[in-house]
Amino acid sequence: MLFKQLFEKESSTYTYLISCQEKQEAILIDPVLETLQRDIDILNNLNLKLAYAIDTHIHADHVTSAAALREITNCKVAGPANDNLKCRDINLKNKDNIVVGSTVLLEAIYSPGHTNTHFSYMLNHNDNKLLFSGDALLINTCGRTDFQSGSSRELFNTIKNIFYKLPDDTKIYPAHDYNNKNYSTIKDQKNDNSFIDEKTNVENFVNKMKNLKLDMPKKIDYAVPINSNCGILNSD
Ligand SMILES: [Fe+2]
Repeated sequence: MLFKQLFEKESSTYTYLISCQEKQEAILIDPVLETLQRDIDILNNLNLKLAYAIDTHIHADHVTSAAALREITNCKVAGPANDNLKCRDINLKNKDNIVVGSTVLLEAIYSPGHTNTHFSYMLNHNDNKLLFSGDALLINTCGRTDFQSGSSRELFNTIKNIFYKLPDDTKIYPAHDYNNKNYSTIKDQKNDNSFIDEKTNVENFVNKMKNLKLDMPKKIDYAVPINSNCGILNSD
């Protein structure tokens, strides 16, 4: 298996490339339109065929390159079934498996709260467990819950009752980091997450999230409709 964490600096988005080296097949999680050519070049240089472009959710801060990747590589576009997007080839439900080549298996995990249809993906490889947590759990913080049908109560449930029940040594790879951190572990987040650690109770968390007073993402009005079409501007 080959694994690469890639970064898009305008939106501070991490894209993940995972491949089965036996079959030379790859997937990209949360690919970004701005870095489309970089990702194509990496695939070509590594002699990898892209099997799937997968989004964790309908992003509000950047445009996905999923449809553009399909156009160029003939890959399948996958994402949460509850998004109800006609542009996707594969609509994932909780606990669905995504198989890449002969050595890579991802499990789809329904993880609502940041948005009501958000999914994360779990990779088990040998003794390594990697959780691609999207915008649900970030390093020492978490995704906001104040738009796209977000819910801080649901996010609390996702993080405490799904993520924090995973083995302590599970590595967390989020969709964003704004402080140059690459990954964390479940154990470290249970101890150190300033928004939601092991001891945080639901009412404190909900209050904290209610009082964040964040600006809307600059691209939200533009990105959400385009991402609802897998990254292609809808002509109608
Ligand atoms: Fe998001």
